[in-house]
Amino acid sequence: MSRKPADPSNRQAGKPLLAVLRGQALSPPPIWLMRQAGRYLPEYRQLRQDKGSFLDLVYDSDAAAEITLQPLKRFPQLDAAILFSDILIVPFALGQNLTFIAGEGPRLSPILAETAIEDLNPFPARLDPIYDTVRKVKAALDRTKTLIGFAGSPWTVATYMAAGQGSRDQAETRRLAYSDPARFEAIIRRIEDVTVDYLLGQVEAGVEVVQLFDSWAGSLSPAQFEQWVIVPTARLVDAIRARHPDLPIIGFPKGAGGKLRAYARETGITALGLDETVDPVWAAKELPEDLPVQGNLDPLALVAGGETLQAAVGRVLDAFAGRPHIFNLGHGILQDTPVAHVEELLAQVKGTK
Ligand code: CP3
Repeated sequence: MSRKPADPSNRQAGKPLLAVLRGQALSPPPIWLMRQAGRYLPEYRQLRQDKGSFLDLVYDSDAAAEITLQPLKRFPQLDAAILFSDILIVPFALGQNLTFIAGEGPRLSPILAETAIEDLNPFPARLDPIYDTVRKVKAALDRTKTLIGFAGSPWTVATYMAAGQGSRDQAETRRLAYSDPARFEAIIRRIEDVTVDYLLGQVEAGVEVVQLFDSWAGSLSPAQFEQWVIVPTARLVDAIRARHPDLPIIGFPKGAGGKLRAYARETGITALGLDETVDPVWAAKELPEDLPVQGNLDPLALVAGGETLQAAVGRVLDAFAGRPHIFNLGHGILQDTPVAHVEELLAQVKGTK
């Protein structure tokens, strides 16, 4: 498949999200929502029912492009689309079997607690349909909107590959990292290499920003965080920048708390995603003032709506006023979020309420 490089001259024209990632403070701030395409939207549930499984949707690039664009059709105030795919496409391309069990979540096999990563049979072509989705979305996207690509960070992807599913405190993977660091290093490096290819493929197909989801960064001790989150992320950022020096990269180390400053300083990311447990007043004071931040409304405040939502949104807006800030949730939007609450949120952030 031929990959056409994105046109860099066109990248930043009139796009508020890209302006903030370059360090500009905007009022109102640009906004998008993690997991903005998904089950809280009736039009997603409809297409999902028509087309079958989640993975069938991801691999049908017409459907995936349509889903990527659904939230922007419904909510024209959103400033970005995020590619509809999943962080577990990387383990799938590395040769694990991937299924999603309704109500339970993803399953990968064989698990790396039992099989060496070198013994998996890789299928790099499993990444290609995702680039088709990117091209289709890019062709249809309004020129003021930004297209965000993404991948999981090596650590978070490794936790799923080792255990075969999500786990409460990633104990299995943390044990492996302590008991056999050389073997764990090989796993991390392998994930990292494929993730670099995957992100470069997305960029060459047209994404303008990438976000690294590190959903389980919070379970590591400081020394292990340095070794398995910061160091691999810094290498990954370097590898991508070697090809695309100006590509904005948003790092989202969920749960990193007091380790956020080290992460921001040492990884080379452009912007820092903050989860809802981070006090925005602390973040505004303690993080470098030119570092763009993203976040961090509690997804449950969005479910609650009304005055609770209004107050919570106000606290985030006030804390980050005057600095480069992208409004977002502190984690993915929840399935039981009323669509009307998303409308309230957008009206408040964009000052039409
Ligand atoms: O943000 C977006 O709208 C883009 C698409 C996106 C999905 N997953 C679609 C999805 C993104 C960015 C992700 C990231 C992702 N996937 C993460 C990191 C962020 C986070 O939430 O911590 C993780 C850990 C995964 C792995 C994953 N995928 C799990 C644990 C699950 C099952 C839980 C669930 O919500 O059902 C998925 C499935 C998944 N990925 C769905 C969607 C829309 C639900 C699919 C469905 O049943 O229709």
